[in-house]
Amino acid sequence: MPRSVPNRGEEGRAHDDRRCLVTGGAGFLGSNLANDLLADGLHVTVFDSLSRPGSQLNLDWLRGQYGDALSFTKGDVRDSKVVERAVAGVDVVYHLAGQTAVTSSVDDPRADFEHNALGTLNVLEAARRSDASPIVVYASTNKVYGALPGVRVVEEETRYSLPDNEDGIGERQRLDFHSPYGCSKGAADQYVRDYHRVYGVRTVVMRQSCLYGPRQMGVEDQGWVAWFLIAALLDLPITIYGDGKQVRDLLFVDDAVAALRSAVARIEVSAGEVYNIGGGHGQTVSVWREFEPALTAAMGRPVQRARFAAARVGDQRAFYCDTRKAARDLGWEPTVAVDDGLRRLAEWIRAAEPALRDVLAARIRSGSADRRDGT
Ligand SMILES: NC(=O)c1ccc[n+]([C@@H]2O[C@H](COP(=O)([O-])OP(=O)(O)OC[C@H]3O[C@@H](n4cnc5c(N)ncnc54)[C@H](O)[C@@H]3O)[C@@H](O)[C@H]2O)c1
Repeated sequence: MPRSVPNRGEEGRAHDDRRCLVTGGAGFLGSNLANDLLADGLHVTVFDSLSRPGSQLNLDWLRGQYGDALSFTKGDVRDSKVVERAVAGVDVVYHLAGQTAVTSSVDDPRADFEHNALGTLNVLEAARRSDASPIVVYASTNKVYGALPGVRVVEEETRYSLPDNEDGIGERQRLDFHSPYGCSKGAADQYVRDYHRVYGVRTVVMRQSCLYGPRQMGVEDQGWVAWFLIAALLDLPITIYGDGKQVRDLLFVDDAVAALRSAVARIEVSAGEVYNIGGGHGQTVSVWREFEPALTAAMGRPVQRARFAAARVGDQRAFYCDTRKAARDLGWEPTVAVDDGLRRLAEWIRAAEPALRDVLAARIRSGSADRRDGT
C-alpha cells in the first residue's frame, strides 16, 4: 500500500537557479516534469520534436500556465548539432525524448534505433562537451529485462505472480533485450551508464515500468492504462493480448516526476547508478482480470466487454519493480494508490475529451490505436 514519504522537490528548493532541459518535455512524463520544475521556479527549456500526437496540446497547456517563463525548442534529438546547442549552458538534462512503442519499433527498427539509441548518444556527447558539466537523467524502461530469464512465474486465478521475487525485480536482474525497442532503449541505458564510468558525466538511469496519469495520450501501442480509460469513455473496442492475467506495477506520474527529481537532488549518491522505478509490489494489478473492476470504479459505470487475442511475443507475464534501492539511495517511494491515481486520470480524460477525440481520431480510424504492449 502507498506510504507517505517526503519525496518531492528537494532539488527545486535547494537550487532555484538551476537550468533544466527536458527532452521530450511536451510528452506525457515530460510535460508533468516541466510543470513541476517550473512551479518551483526553475529555468526550464522543453526540447521536443512534437512528433507524438497530442504533444502540442501539452505544450500549449504549459505555455498557458507559465507563459514566457517556459522556453521551448522545437528540435529532434537525432540532430547532434541542435542537441549540442540545446544542452550548452544547462545544469540538468532530463532525457525523456524518444520513440516509445514496441509495435512501431518492430515496424521500423532503424527509426526506433535513431530516436532512442542515436538520440541518447547525441545527448551524452553534448553533455560531455559542455562546460557546464550537466547531470543527465535518462528515462529507461523495464523492457531491458526482457523475458526475465531465470525468474519463476506462477499462474493464479486472476494474475501471474513471482513467488521467488515477492519484493519485485531488482536492478541486478540480468539484462535481456527483446524487440527493437528493448534493444534501442537498452543500448541507450548502457551508454548512459558508461558515460559516467568512462567520462565522469554525472548520469543516472531510471528504469521505469508502467507510468500513468494526466496528459497521457494513451493508445494501445503505448500507455495502456490511459488507453483503457479513454476507450471506456469513448466506447471504443478494447482488445486484451494474452489472458489478461499479466501483472504490471502502476506508478502515478507525480511519483515518477518525484523520482526523476530525487535522482538529481541526491546526485552525490545516484551518479552512475541505475534505479528500477515503478509502483512496486504494493501497486500491482493484472491488466484485465483485476484492472477491469478498477476501471469500472474509476469510470463510475460498467465498461464494454474486452475481446481477447493471442499474447504478444516477449510480453512479460509479470513484472513489478523492487524499489528498495531507490528508497535507500533517493529517499523515494511511490505514494499515490492506484484507485486514487485512476480517479485523477479519469477526471483529466473527461475534461480533455474533445481534444483527445481530435488527437486520437486519425489513429482510431486507421485501427492503429487497437494494439497493445507492456509499458
Ligand atoms: N510512459 C511509460 O509508461 C514509460 C515506461 C518506461 C519508459 N518510458 C520512457 O519515458 C520517456 C517518456 O515517455 P512518455 O510516456 O512521456 O512518452 P511520450 O511519447 O508521451 O513523450 C515523448 C516525447 O518525445 C518527443 N519525441 C519523440 N521523438 C523525438 C525526437 N527524436 N526528438 C525530440 N523529441 C522527440 C515526442 O514528441 C513526445 O512529446 C520515454 O523515453 C519512454 O521510453 C515511459
